[in-house]
Amino acid sequence: QWQSVPLAPPDSIFQLTAAYKEDTFNKKINLGVGAYRDDDNKPWILPVVKEATRILLNDETLDHEYLPITGLPEFTTAAAKLILGPSSPALAEGRVASVQTISGTGANHLGALFLSRFYQWTGEKKVWLSNPTWANHHAIFKNVGIEPVEYPYYDPKTIGLDFNGFVNALKTAPDRSVFLLHGCAHNPTGVDPTAEQWTTIAEIMLAKKHYAFLDCAYQGFASGDLDKDAWAVRFFVEKGVALLVCQSFAKNAGLYGERVGALHLVSATEEASARVKSQLSVLQRSEISNPPSHGARIVSLILNDPAMFEGWKRDIETMAGRIIEMRKELFRLLTEELHTPGNWDHIVNQIGMFSFTGINPSQSKALTREAHVYLTVNGRISMAGLNTHNVQYFAESLDKVVRQ
Ligand code: LMR
Repeated sequence: QWQSVPLAPPDSIFQLTAAYKEDTFNKKINLGVGAYRDDDNKPWILPVVKEATRILLNDETLDHEYLPITGLPEFTTAAAKLILGPSSPALAEGRVASVQTISGTGANHLGALFLSRFYQWTGEKKVWLSNPTWANHHAIFKNVGIEPVEYPYYDPKTIGLDFNGFVNALKTAPDRSVFLLHGCAHNPTGVDPTAEQWTTIAEIMLAKKHYAFLDCAYQGFASGDLDKDAWAVRFFVEKGVALLVCQSFAKNAGLYGERVGALHLVSATEEASARVKSQLSVLQRSEISNPPSHGARIVSLILNDPAMFEGWKRDIETMAGRIIEMRKELFRLLTEELHTPGNWDHIVNQIGMFSFTGINPSQSKALTREAHVYLTVNGRISMAGLNTHNVQYFAESLDKVVRQ
């Protein structure tokens, strides 16, 4: 049996973590997976999460019963307000169907599954993904019978946004196409459109009646400010672009393993929203029955308690601030100390957890082989893997491969 099952390759991101763990070299660096580390390269449990966990442990009223199929209501309501804004017209008008999901991946999956079933497709089922995007986007859509096609996004010449290519794709795609957009802190490039560019994108999407599939896994990580990082999402809602939003608390609450996220689908009317939510509930039931409770309870406490919410904002500033400092230090080392050939402005201009260094696949592989620095072959580095103890070694190693 199973003679014809082909051997699948390991996951491009998680295989790096495994290889890093195996490596015994004392200066090894893991810049693969997008997971925050403190200055001592340790996973960081946010102080506010510690506090919320303590409260939950001491709460005698809690049990291990099933959550409702669409999740913990106090969590989904507060999560919707967090991403869409407390004064969101869509929320005030009852036009948002929110469902708790298995983190951002689950939100992407449920959103994709819903579209596959219920979107009014005019031709073949297709989703437009940025080139490049998070590799898992391709797999998630293929799994539900939606074919991924790519739109230009990253320009290797400028190590920035190929805005003309992007706009051209929006204009030439058939009306009512589905475009996946990264709400902030684009993964893997760290290159986001400016507010002015987002305005143009929204206008074309409206004119072409495109659907925005907004993936927002890094709210808070781009600027350190939760509201600022939700700007594009809120702007699209305000403009009336048809959309859904995928939300994750893995990165901004450091809750990677708890798998806590949400899908928010905005409809034109309250009545349509109720129908949408009923179908999301049916889909969720057949997939996971009910979402897990622990992470949702932690986030719910943080979002619904004003003092804890302030504490969370400080924790986010700590994480985003450390990453921004590392960008500055790497940039300084490359440009002022090592005089590494090439322009490195993008290191400080890109935002969020990742930086696209602009090095080519053979240089990325050389970094891993010769310097024990683990990064995806596309040249993406997780800035969170850099710290005051290893940034010098990384800069020197990068300098070496660039000069080879
Ligand atoms: C990443 O891109 O490294 C993160 O989003 C983690 C993941 O699930 O791939």
